[in-house]
Amino acid sequence: MALLDIRDIDVSYGKQLTVKDCAISLEQGQICSVVGESGSGKTTVIRAVLGLLPGGGRVTKGDIVYDGKSLLGLNKRQWRALRGHDISMIFQDSGAMMNQTRLIGRSFVEYIRTHESISKNDAWKKGADMLGRMRLPDPDRIMRSYPFQLSGGMRQRVGIAMGMTYEPKLLLADEPTSALDVTTQAQIVRQMMELRDEYGTSIIIVTHDIGVAAYMADKVVVMKDGRIEDQGTREHILNHSENAYTQKLIGAVPSLGGKRYV
Ligand SMILES: Nc1ncnc2c1ncn2[C@@H]1O[C@H](COP(=O)(O)OP(=O)(O)OP(=O)(O)O)[C@@H](O)[C@H]1O
Ligand SMILES: [Mg+2]
Repeated sequence: MALLDIRDIDVSYGKQLTVKDCAISLEQGQICSVVGESGSGKTTVIRAVLGLLPGGGRVTKGDIVYDGKSLLGLNKRQWRALRGHDISMIFQDSGAMMNQTRLIGRSFVEYIRTHESISKNDAWKKGADMLGRMRLPDPDRIMRSYPFQLSGGMRQRVGIAMGMTYEPKLLLADEPTSALDVTTQAQIVRQMMELRDEYGTSIIIVTHDIGVAAYMADKVVVMKDGRIEDQGTREHILNHSENAYTQKLIGAVPSLGGKRYV
């Protein structure tokens, strides 16, 4: 059984039908990259899965089934238990989503305590330990920093570490590396792949960077104008797709031909 099964969903913002007939199925431990031009609906699909569509956005057709259960129609309490625990997410700038006036450690403690009843001290230790496990240097200093005191890349890595605290079964990442320099980008790509290798986390990563997509993914989904234009294994999409749009996307990256990317 697939871990996540997006079954032919339509998503509308108000009366505007934005995503049409989107179907993606993801097995435990699989990494799926979603690529496609700006405005093609990638973020909309990710947010639909997370139950985080902005006001006016809703799934108007189909179903989203996680671990055998529909995610549509979960109430707030059910989402609080699932999101950040079994299902985690990373956005383009996780740091920007943190409370800027609060120590990282305090935000981390609060996050942990929404999922477990442990003391603040123990939650602080658990947070610092998590940063260490994600190989962030000097966890204690990071815990005692404000988000603005860290670089963008470091903030992003902290955001990822937080999202990993409960070894999520599913990670949804929306352009997690696009705001970062190449070195940090490579670090984060590796970090996500280690998660899959160590915990069997399934990942959907939205990226503009077809190189990152090709390097990480078991399967690739190509979106265009709110529809899935093409999808298949990495090998198929990179080397055998006859879809003209896919070929154009890949053709824009001349160095791809099977090279190690990161
Ligand atoms: N809150 C909203 N209300 C109305 N329309 C929206 C909203 N958010 C997105 N849209 C529209 O939905 C379409 C898809 O947007 P979406 O953000 O999903 O695209 P994307 O593929 O993630 O693009 P990008 O690569 O630029 O991030 C766009 O036409 C966008 O204008
Ligand atoms: Mg987007």
